[in-house]
Amino acid sequence: MCMAEALPADGELVSLEICEHLKTLAAELISESQHAGKIHIILEPAIKFINRIAETKEKFDMIFVDGEKADYVPLFKMIFDNDLLSTGGTLLIDNAYNRGGAYNPSLNDRVPQELLDTVKAWQGLHTILLPLSDGLWMIRRMKDVERDAL
Ligand SMILES: C[S@@+](CC[C@H](N)C(=O)[O-])C[C@H]1O[C@@H](n2cnc3c(N)ncnc32)[C@H](O)[C@@H]1O
Repeated sequence: MCMAEALPADGELVSLEICEHLKTLAAELISESQHAGKIHIILEPAIKFINRIAETKEKFDMIFVDGEKADYVPLFKMIFDNDLLSTGGTLLIDNAYNRGGAYNPSLNDRVPQELLDTVKAWQGLHTILLPLSDGLWMIRRMKDVERDAL
């Protein structure tokens, strides 16, 4: 809702959901907001959505990944392979620490390390890991960051 509130009147927010009852519940709550018209909830797994949207060449000013953790690395790759961010766009990925899995070896959690390795190895990105709550990756293309600095 905060994201929708921050958007201009003609801004659009696409929210993906895989649970039908959560989509229904969210839609009911959102319908009470004056910003409801900006929000589109789509019942579709994120990977399937990206495969579909990539063909349309549609781009996004911001993408926030906060779903199934096992999808984070494939989603990261798909977003940049398909060039889904618009110029100056930002990718946010939640749960960088994955509730301790990133730094506690006893949790034997490969997900945050694989994401870290993938993000670090990707060329041409400007990345910041914000120590907010469960850790938030903020990722932009280096060329956008350099252009903004001029
Ligand atoms: C942590 S919650 C999202 C919270 C929301 N971003 C917020 O900050 O209020 C994750 C939601 O994503 C949905 N989800 C999980 N995996 C998904 C996927 N692969 N594609 C789409 N939605 C997914 C879950 O059903 C759940 O409702």
